[in-house]
Amino acid sequence: MTRTRQTISVIGLGYVGLPTAATFASRGLQVIGVDIRQDAVDRIRSGQAHFIEPDLDIVLRAVVTSGNLRATTVPEPADAFLIAVPTPIREDRSADLSAVKAALASIAPVLKRGDLVIIESTCPVGTTKGAAEQLRALRPDLTFPDDTPESSDILLAYSPERILPGQTLRELIENPRTYGGLDHRSAVGARELYAVFATGPNRLTTAPAAELSKLVENAYRDVNVAFANELSLVCDALGLDVWSVIKLANLHPRVNILAPGAGVGGHCIPVDPWFIHEALPNHTPLIRTAREVNDNKPHFIAERVATIASRFRAPTIAVLGLAYKPNVDDLRESPALLIARQLADRQLGRLMIVEPHVSGLPAGLSGRDDVVLASLDEAVAQADVVAVLVAHDRFRGLDRGAVASKIVVDAAGLFSRAAEAA
Ligand SMILES: NC(=O)c1ccc[n+]([C@@H]2O[C@H](COP(=O)([O-])OP(=O)(O)OC[C@H]3O[C@@H](n4cnc5c(N)ncnc54)[C@H](O)[C@@H]3O)[C@@H](O)[C@H]2O)c1
Repeated sequence: MTRTRQTISVIGLGYVGLPTAATFASRGLQVIGVDIRQDAVDRIRSGQAHFIEPDLDIVLRAVVTSGNLRATTVPEPADAFLIAVPTPIREDRSADLSAVKAALASIAPVLKRGDLVIIESTCPVGTTKGAAEQLRALRPDLTFPDDTPESSDILLAYSPERILPGQTLRELIENPRTYGGLDHRSAVGARELYAVFATGPNRLTTAPAAELSKLVENAYRDVNVAFANELSLVCDALGLDVWSVIKLANLHPRVNILAPGAGVGGHCIPVDPWFIHEALPNHTPLIRTAREVNDNKPHFIAERVATIASRFRAPTIAVLGLAYKPNVDDLRESPALLIARQLADRQLGRLMIVEPHVSGLPAGLSGRDDVVLASLDEAVAQADVVAVLVAHDRFRGLDRGAVASKIVVDAAGLFSRAAEAA
């Protein structure tokens, strides 16, 4: 039976939650966006996002002006609640679900019979079931799908997000979606809600299967990049160009090796595999090793650059790129940033950082006399050593002649003709 949900609430208005809230609002639903950050809420109320995402401000301004999206810091009653809060790992690499638990606790007082709750945050397996247990403890007057399947007061589902920042608005609509219910009714309810805008293929499944599938997607990427990064060490030791070797191997019709790099960054791929490993450490040596291989790569690059730089009396090192991947301004968990900080900490000489996507240096690099943010031409011209950490498109125009007299450590394949042609 299709139930029309007119008012929905999105808890957590970040990279995932805000575009989701704006897209629902653009389809005529009344959306209450909730975030604990007053500054983010204030900015959204003025029709602007508190982060950069192409075209988001246009949609946001329209839905805020029409009144379809209203931002607040305290949850209000709604027909459906979507939870899109952060799920980081702690120092010891255990999952930190405190934001999910806080979000659930904050909606518990306003839940009513017939409401749908969907968790979108990337979570360890069992989180959705744990959410039912938490909500039941807070609202013993309501029934949940794990204790009253197919007839509960509240529907509870897990639907992971797969968007690529920079393409969020299109991917939200077009990407395939999975709806994992604590019971079938919950999965169907989640699909009906998203049908307002989601046009991609979709699958109904159980909550734990949906939870694990999201983690597996990112662990798969991590393991495959780790293979490429390990190959880069092998090739380095053998004096071979890793991109040429991968290109040759990929001529095999059933081989498709990914590109190596300075490591693996962002807030998803380096984090999510640990959720699987934490739950099943004895079953996941490959996932753990892949994490370690990828985490080790920035240290290897930093060591290499430092060793070369130490041959000079007062070296100038050009560091090309700080972002966690090409063509973005996102520095979260960035291996390039880690390398730059390690080089700065060693006080080897002068660091000239080139990151065309940021306007200032981040913590650990700013406020130091020996580290400057520079233009590409300026940094390369003055450098003794050039460390290429991110293959931003804006670096591709660099004249190879400009680096001919420099010692280049190219972790990103910018100067490899094989990488270029791959
Ligand atoms: N960003 C992506 O590309 C992406 C893609 C797929 C999945 N995810 C997952 O989606 C989830 C959210 O990621 P994000 O990138 O949007 O994070 P984000 O940090 O950009 O946004 C999360 C927002 O939640 C708010 N918040 C924290 N606790 C809250 C609470 N108790 N109540 C209300 N608001 C609260 C924060 O202030 C923040 O604005 C994470 O689990 C992430 O792993 C992200």
